[in-house]
Amino acid sequence: MSDSKTEIRDSVRDYYASAIKLAGQSSCCGDGEQYDGAQFYDPSVIDVMPVDVDVTSFGCGDPVTIASLKPGDTVLDLGSGAGLDCFLAAKQVGETGHVIGVDMTPEMLEKANANRDKLGADNVEFRQGHIEALPVDDATVDVVISNCVINLSPDKAAVFAETFRVLKPSGRLSVSDIVTEGDFTPEQRAEVDAWAACITGAVDVDEYLTLIREAGFVDIEVVSKVESDSTFLGEKASLPRVYSARITATKPTN
Ligand SMILES: C[S@@+](CC[C@H](N)C(=O)[O-])C[C@H]1O[C@@H](n2cnc3c(N)ncnc32)[C@H](O)[C@@H]1O
Repeated sequence: MSDSKTEIRDSVRDYYASAIKLAGQSSCCGDGEQYDGAQFYDPSVIDVMPVDVDVTSFGCGDPVTIASLKPGDTVLDLGSGAGLDCFLAAKQVGETGHVIGVDMTPEMLEKANANRDKLGADNVEFRQGHIEALPVDDATVDVVISNCVINLSPDKAAVFAETFRVLKPSGRLSVSDIVTEGDFTPEQRAEVDAWAACITGAVDVDEYLTLIREAGFVDIEVVSKVESDSTFLGEKASLPRVYSARITATKPTN
C-alpha cells in the first residue's frame, strides 16, 4: 500500500481509538455530535442484548437482518468495532456456527472482547487485522457482513478481492455502507476527519458496484438507501448526494 494510503488508514485507526474511549459522546458518519448507530436497527433486534453489554454502534445500517444467516454458518464481520453485529449474527448461527470479527484498532478489539466475555458468546472471536489483507483462510466463510467500514478503506478493490477470496463458493456478501451519487473533490477528500467520519472516503455507488463486480461477485443488489447528513462539510450544493446503502452480492458456485 502506498504511503498516502497507509497515512489515511492510520488516521482512521487513531480516530476510532479515540471514538471508542469516548463512546457515548463520539461520532461517525456525522458532525461530532453524539452519534447512535443503533438507530438503524429495528428496536426488537437490539433489545435482545443484555443491559451490561455496550452496544455502541458506529454503523450506518443493519447488515445482519438482510444476511439470511442460518444455523451453522461461518460469518465474518469486516471492521467489527465493539462487536454488536457479531453478537447479533452469533445468535442466528447458534452453537454450531462461528463468527469472526476483524478490526485494526486495538481499543475496539479490547471493547469487543470485554463484551464477548460478558455475553459468554463462545462462538465469536475477534482478530486484529486489516480488511485489505484479511487474517482468514481461503474459502472458509459462508457470509461476510460489514457495517460502515469499506467506505473508510483507501483500497476498496483490495477489500472486495479479499472478501471474495475468503468466501466459500455460493458465499454471500451483505453490507451497509456509505456511498455517493457524484464524487467528492480532491480538496474534500483531503479532509482527514471527514474521511474518518465515514463521509469523504465514500465513492459513487456505480464505482462501488463495479468494484464488487470486478472482484468476481454476481447477483449484486442495492437493497435499500437512507440519506446521510454531510452538510457540516459545506453547502449541500457543493457536495455529492451521500447516503447509506444496504448491498448484497454472491460469489459464484464455480
Ligand atoms: C465506523 S466504525 C464501524 C464499526 C462497526 N462495524 C459498527 O457498526 O459499529 C469503523 C470500524 O472499522 C475499523 N476499520 C476501519 N478501517 C479498517 C481497515 N482498513 N481494516 C480493519 N479495520 C478497519 C475501525 O477500527 C472501526 O472499528
